Amino acid sequence: METWESVDDFFSATIVREDDALLNALRESRKHGLPEWEVSPAQGQFLYILAKMAKAKRILELGTLGGYSTIWLARALPDDGALVTLEYDEKYAEVARGNIDYAGLSDKVTVMQGAAAGLMKSLVAGGEPPFDMIFIDADKPNNPLYLELALKLSARGTVIFGDNVVRDGELANAQSTDPKVRGVREYIADLGRSPNIISTGLQTVGCKGYDGFTISIVE
Ligand SMILES: C[S@@+](CC[C@H](N)C(=O)[O-])C[C@H]1O[C@@H](n2cnc3c(N)ncnc32)[C@H](O)[C@@H]1O
Repeated sequence: METWESVDDFFSATIVREDDALLNALRESRKHGLPEWEVSPAQGQFLYILAKMAKAKRILELGTLGGYSTIWLARALPDDGALVTLEYDEKYAEVARGNIDYAGLSDKVTVMQGAAAGLMKSLVAGGEPPFDMIFIDADKPNNPLYLELALKLSARGTVIFGDNVVRDGELANAQSTDPKVRGVREYIADLGRSPNIISTGLQTVGCKGYDGFTISIVE
């Protein structure tokens, strides 16, 4: 773990461009007592690169927290791009709005407060156009439902990213009774069964410990 952190520190000191707006988001989040659940700086810049690679114009994020990953993703959007981010906790959503405003991204980002599943259902019912990238980073027990709804908000080429699925390797434990582990196991099994999605999973280590993600593309 010490080595993983040193390597992340080296990346942060060399290639990761975590500027004042991102540092402010972390500072404000700690000041308001939000948990340290953000992606790492290197992971944030990875999301930025992915969004650019996907040429994403419309991004949906599940799980805003204080808006740290939101800022990374929204910065990858073109001038006419838009990001919708869903957060259950009222206080977190308020802190995120302030951080997004500080980053000068309020015109591109909409923070919707409420349970992600209900909000996604209302987006589907309202005829929301498909998103180019969907970042699933909220409560893991609901991941299978989030996938089902994400597919209704997708089109060919949509990239779906599922964060924190490895969970210290517990992902491989079929006997786990942890609802988070069961949620990510079912989510991944659903991905494998979906004929029109190609997915892979990658394990990661770093300052956030041992975890990993799935990345999928709708074909
Ligand atoms: C891992 S954190 C998100 C971190 C953030 N994406 C980042 O990297 O900066 C997960 C977030 O999901 C939110 N959350 C939990 N259950 C939720 C739900 N049912 N609907 C929407 N958000 C939820 C939590 O309040 C928390 O802020």
